[in-house]
Amino acid sequence: MGLALKQIDFNVCFLEATSNLKYIIFFSAATFNLGRFSCRMHKKTHDKFMTAKSPLYDVLIIGSGAAGLSLALRLADHTRVAVLSKVSLDEGSTLYAQGGVSAVMDEQDSVEAHFEDTLIAGAGLCEPDAVKLVVSHGKDCIEWLIERGVPFTEETWDDGSSHLHLTREGGHSHRRVVHAADATGKAIETSLEQHARRHPNIELFEYHNAVDLITAKKLGCQEQRVLGAYVLDNRAHTVKTMRARIVVLATGGASKVYLYTSNPDVSTGDGMALAWRAGARVANMEFIQFHPTCLYHPHARSFLISEAVRGEGGKLLLPDGTPFMGKFDSRKELAPRDIVARAIDHEIKRLGIDCVYLDISHKGAEFITSHFPTIHARCLEFGIDMTRQPIPVVPAAHYTCGGVMTDSDARTDIPGLYAIGEVACTGLHGANRMASNSLLECLVYAKQASEDIKRVLSTTPAPPELPEWDESKVSDSDEEVVVSHNWDEIRRFMWDYVGIVRTDKRLERAMRRTELLKQEIADYYGHFRVTSDLLELRNLVTVAELIIRSAQLRKESRGLHFTLDYPETDDNQPPKNTILEPKC
Ligand code: FAD
Ligand code: SIN
Repeated sequence: MGLALKQIDFNVCFLEATSNLKYIIFFSAATFNLGRFSCRMHKKTHDKFMTAKSPLYDVLIIGSGAAGLSLALRLADHTRVAVLSKVSLDEGSTLYAQGGVSAVMDEQDSVEAHFEDTLIAGAGLCEPDAVKLVVSHGKDCIEWLIERGVPFTEETWDDGSSHLHLTREGGHSHRRVVHAADATGKAIETSLEQHARRHPNIELFEYHNAVDLITAKKLGCQEQRVLGAYVLDNRAHTVKTMRARIVVLATGGASKVYLYTSNPDVSTGDGMALAWRAGARVANMEFIQFHPTCLYHPHARSFLISEAVRGEGGKLLLPDGTPFMGKFDSRKELAPRDIVARAIDHEIKRLGIDCVYLDISHKGAEFITSHFPTIHARCLEFGIDMTRQPIPVVPAAHYTCGGVMTDSDARTDIPGLYAIGEVACTGLHGANRMASNSLLECLVYAKQASEDIKRVLSTTPAPPELPEWDESKVSDSDEEVVVSHNWDEIRRFMWDYVGIVRTDKRLERAMRRTELLKQEIADYYGHFRVTSDLLELRNLVTVAELIIRSAQLRKESRGLHFTLDYPETDDNQPPKNTILEPKC
């Protein structure tokens, strides 16, 4: 049986690809000039797989949300960058962000208060230095966005002066959320997109899906470094080899691994899976944030009802109109998200109801339509007039707090590889992210990465020519239905067994299914031409495994991780991150 290059998982440079075949790559003849490394390739392998010339980029950014585009814009005046996006450039969680960006803008507020609030929400696991870094950059990041034309909502004070309007969300002790009505992400993404499309140093690759990172170790070298990526052109159905001095993962989160999510389809945890397969550590994957209030309607796919609705006075009610949050927390509707989501989950299960209700109708039509025009319009499409009636809501997977481990300059374990935005685990969120801190994190770490990249780029060697992707031994899929069934299965058991409330038994059940699916998907991947759905499925099963393994390692409840088997937070020892080390 033949083996295409894509089938080789290079965690080590020799791997069992199927039960009866071992494939060894020898790099013995051609010597690459890799700066400090030298890497050798067997002549025959070299002849077979090398491209004439694969394109070389200084910086390859995988992802075009707030993180990816702001980095591209910060670098583009200094160097040439390529930006990949799985679908159209604007699609990603950023586009759908509603509430806003947290930043200390008001004199009554302080960086210290933002720091404290973030630490409290993070339930003992925030990295104080990361929190300090992020909260202290709030104001300059907002100014940077305003300079790029982001139309944040303003208000006029009694003296006639204009100021940014600040809204409030759970966990924040002050009004500190800068927003563009209830469509903040759209305002940010479209402004950045306009700038990126115009910049001569930014080359955009829409409908391009990163398949795997190429690293020196995968090619048999002793010393590790990222060299580029294999990328599926989703429209031409071909896989390109892209070489790059620096690669940045800006691929967003992984909430699509759950059946019910606020996230768009692209959030399949690709960056986490890519980094993991390439040999980088990931951390804190058990901390999946479930947003308490997504619209409940049979035809409303993934629509969020912003926490700002509660911030501006919205009340959570049972179907008979009884408020219930007071039973769970003195902060009621503005308690941190994990508490509100668990309270709703508890009431739904206790009463056997489909949803609870969020009511802000007492604020009046004018207030509601000016503060929440997008939510109002969307609800109306489903026959719900929020100016007159409560909105049916349920919790849904919303944000991945864990991810690829990075330092204060967004560097991962792999030299040359950076990770920014939701894909990264910087230490900011700890065990629970505070609302509106993630867009800020995207912007701050894009800035940090840009400064570090500018520092190191001139001394970073260009990668050599790289092995070409080879699909000569694979065929078109004979049963696409396998891919869609496996997708459904993963998302269903992750929701049922690894959701808001976990137990050891549920996690074991989920792990058994993951093991089986992993084999089936690896086999499928080994035999058939890659498609976007197949690549995402392969990444989803990896991410599912990382989440379950992390959850199994945490023998306590903390922040977003709640298990009936260990319902208390373990205060007998210092809080620990859950760090998963790849095998190689
Ligand atoms: P994204 O914006 O998700 O972008 C990911 C990019 O990576 C996309 O371009 C995608 O195509 C690309 N990509 C992924 N995989 C690949 C691949 N294999 N190859 C090529 N490209 C790839 N946070 C806040 O702070 N405030 C809010 O008000 C807020 N509201 C939210 C509302 C909703 C409905 C959602 C879903 C999230 C919200 N969040 C909010 C969270 C926040 O929006 C995200 O954490 C943030 O936008 C993530 O930005 P990002 O750049 O990391 O990723
Ligand atoms: C929201 O508007 O509720 C989302 C805010 C966030 O996730 O930070």
